[in-house]
Order: sequence, then C-alpha cells, then structure tokens
Amino acid sequence: MSAFHREKVLSVQHWTDTLFSFKATRDTSFRFQNGQFAMIGLEVDGKPLLRAYSMASANHEEELEFFSIKVPDGPLTSRLQKIKEGDTILVGRKAVGTLITDNLLPGKRLLMLSTGTGLAPFASLIKDPDVYERYEHVVLVHGCRQVSELAYGERLVAKLAEDELFGELMKDKFTYYPTVTREPFRNRGRITDLIASSQLFNDIGQGPLSIETDRIMLCGSPHMLEDLKVMFEERDFIEGSGSKPGHFVIEKAFVER
Ligand code: A2P
Repeated sequence: MSAFHREKVLSVQHWTDTLFSFKATRDTSFRFQNGQFAMIGLEVDGKPLLRAYSMASANHEEELEFFSIKVPDGPLTSRLQKIKEGDTILVGRKAVGTLITDNLLPGKRLLMLSTGTGLAPFASLIKDPDVYERYEHVVLVHGCRQVSELAYGERLVAKLAEDELFGELMKDKFTYYPTVTREPFRNRGRITDLIASSQLFNDIGQGPLSIETDRIMLCGSPHMLEDLKVMFEERDFIEGSGSKPGHFVIEKAFVER
C-alpha cells in the first residue's frame, strides 16, 4: 500500500504573490484531529516530493484545504503554486502533530498565536465545536508583515461568523486579533511585544495572561516560536506533548519548502 493518497485539486486561490490556498478531495479513510498536519506534495520526476502541511480544513469537512507560502526557489512550493483544478496532489496517509486540545491541561481561555501560514492549523481548530465546549474564550492572534497577508484569515473568520452553527458559538466566545508589523493597521506590533506589554489583552478587553486560566497554542516563524517559548517558560508555563499535557504546545510550520 502506498504511503499517500492521490487527491484531485478542486480549487486554488491566490491571496498575494507569496500566499495561496487550495482545496482537494479527501479520501474517506483519511482521518485527522483538528490542528494536525500531514506530508503533502507532488510527484516530481516519478518521485514524491513532500513537506509537512497543517490541514486548514476541519475533520468534519468533506474536502481538504491547505494554506501555503510560495518560495520562488523552494523545491516544492515553486511547483505547488502552479497547481490548477483537476491536478493531482499527494497526501500522506498519516496525520500527526502537537496542536491538539488533548495536549493541553484544562483551562478557560485558549490563545492561538500564529504568524504567516502558521495560521493554518487554527483555521481547522476554530471550526471544531469541541474547542468552544472546552474553553470559555478562544483568541486567535495572527501576525503578518503586511495587511494583504491577513486576507485568508479575515475571510475565514468572516465566513464562520455568518455560519448558522459557528456564528452562534463564536459570538460570545471568539476573538480575532490580526496584527501587522510593517505598515499601518488598527493593530500594530509583534505578538511577543503585544503580550509582554499586555496590549493584546487591553485591546480585546480581557484579563491579563494567567497560568491558571490560559492555555496556548503556537504556530509560525521559528524566531517567534523560540521567543514565545522562552517568554512563557519564564512565567512557569510548561510545554505540553502527547505524553504529558501542559500549558502550551508548539508546532513548527516553517520548514524548507
Ligand atoms: P517583523 O516584521 O517585525 O519581522 P515572517 O514573514 O518573517 O515570517 O514574519 C511574520 C510575522 O512574524 C511578522 O509580522 C514578523 O514581524 C513577526 N516576527 C518575526 N520574528 C518574530 C519574533 N521573534 N517574535 C515575534 N514576532 C516575530
């Protein structure tokens, strides 16, 4: 049996010259937990060329969705960015990853902190009704350099807010906080600074960071992950994993692509 499924591309959307998303068919046997990733890619010269991608679709959805950067000389994304409806992609049979709610201790507020395409696993998790059962508040923070890079997330949140089921669930529980670092926007600054200064919590009108109630998921650029890990560990937060739940969990979205 092959290690991956061959799936058909259903649609592709380009958001900026560096970002795109696409939908593909999903084999009925492909199971995953919201927040997990799989190896996906293309067949190149008869060989599979695969990279880790978080599912941006939720596990109750029929189709798969992925959110990707385009790296001009990236082995995979230089090719993947050219896919069209009807093309074939490879999707690994096994989904894995640490950004799952079972890896966190019980809490009241879930902070999802992302930069760039690190948003992808949270696109899946915010479509999971169980997340809203487990937490009183869910805060999705997305940091980008430019305003245009927020478009995928903005659209996703706007669509969910209009949804009959999620609109109701999210109304009192969900806060979306996009922030931009390199041009004017209503929220400015790096996630690290916004947390250290408490500006994030002031802006959303909620209480300060608390180890008693806050549980945190991190996905994004390696520097941001490292800095936030240090920042939370200095405040006695413990990193969780599949073997032992903790106060925060980390996924590295940015590998060579
Ligand atoms: P900045 O513009 O100040 O570098 P990138 O496109 O390089 O992956 O960055 C995505 C976002 O993550 C940018 O807004 C960037 O801010 C921010 N960022 C980069 N490094 C860090 C870090 N160490 N801590 C927090 N945010 C960071």
